[in-house]
Amino acid sequence: MTVLAMTKESPQLAANTQTEIPPVAQAVPRICLVTGGTGGIGSAICQRLAKAGHVVATTYRNEEKAKAWKAEMAKQGYTFHIYKCDVSNFEESQRVVKSIVADLGPITVLVNNAGITRDSTLRKMSFEQWRDVIANDLDSVFNMTRPVLDYMLEKNFGRIINISSINGQKGQFGQSNYAAAKAGMHGFTKALAQEVAKKGITVNTISPGYIDTDMIQAVPENIRQGIMAQIPVGRFGKPEDVAHVVSFLMQDDSGFITGANIATNGGHFMD
Ligand code: CAA
Repeated sequence: MTVLAMTKESPQLAANTQTEIPPVAQAVPRICLVTGGTGGIGSAICQRLAKAGHVVATTYRNEEKAKAWKAEMAKQGYTFHIYKCDVSNFEESQRVVKSIVADLGPITVLVNNAGITRDSTLRKMSFEQWRDVIANDLDSVFNMTRPVLDYMLEKNFGRIINISSINGQKGQFGQSNYAAAKAGMHGFTKALAQEVAKKGITVNTISPGYIDTDMIQAVPENIRQGIMAQIPVGRFGKPEDVAHVVSFLMQDDSGFITGANIATNGGHFMD
C-alpha cells in the first residue's frame, strides 16, 4: 500500500462505492504529523491514518530504531516520511516542521504523541528526571503546536490531538513528573481549543489507560498485575484502541468536538 492507495484505484474505496457507502473519511487526504511515531501507540496511529489515505510524517530521535521501523513498515506496505527531531527543543521543532511542510505540504493534522516516563517517588526524584519528563511530554506540545498552528490558520482547518494519559487524570504512585506533564496537556487543550474554535481547528486530548507497549512492560511485574486487576474490561489496551480514537477525532465531520478529553482506558478511571 502507498499513501495514494485510497484514491480512485483503491480496492477499499471501490468496495465502498459498490456498497454505496459514501467515503466520507477519505474525502480529503490530509498531511498528518505524528510525533514519536516509531513507538507502540505512535505506530498504530501512523498505520491507521495511512490506511485512510492520508500522508503521514513522523518524528524520531533514535536513528537506528527509526530506520529499522521504516523498513519494517515498508515491508508491510506503508510509506511513511520520517524526520529526526528532538521535540523537547523548540528551535529544532520549528526547523523540522518547516522541512515537513516544504516536502509534503501544509500540516493540518497534528498528533502530539511523543512522550517518556522517568518513574520515581518524589523523595528520590532528581531534577533531571523531573525536567526530562516535563520537557519531552509537555514542552513538546508547545514546541510542535506553535509552528504547525500557523499552517492550520492559513487553511482554516486543523485537528490537534494530544495523547495524554489516565495518570494525568488520576495521578499514579511514582509519577509526579509524568502526571504533572500529562495533566498540563488538558489545560493546554482547553485553552487553545477556545482560541482557535472559530478557525475550523479543533483541539482534543485522548487519555489512554494502560496500553500494552514497551512502556508498560517496563513496569515491575507485580505492579503490572495489580494494575491489570483494576481494569474492568479485563485487559490492557491495544495501541489500535488509541489509533481508533485518533481516526475519529481527525475526521472532517468531527468539527463539533473540541476541548474534549476522551478517556480510552477500559473503564480503569471514570470521571
Ligand atoms: N501505593 C502505595 N504505596 C506503594 C505503591 C502504591 N501504588 N507502590 C509502592 N508502594 C510502597 C511500597 O510498598 C514501599 O513501601 P515500604 O517502604 O513501606 O516498603 C514504598 O512505597 C516504596 O517506595 P520507594 O520510593 O522505595 O519506591 P521504589 O523505588 O521501590 O519504586 C516506582 C517506585 C519505581 C515508582 C515503582 O513503584 C513503580 O515502578 N511504579 C509503577 C509506576 C507506574 O505505574 N508507571 C506507569 C508506567 S506506564 C505509563 O505511564 C503509560 C501511561 O500513560 C499509563
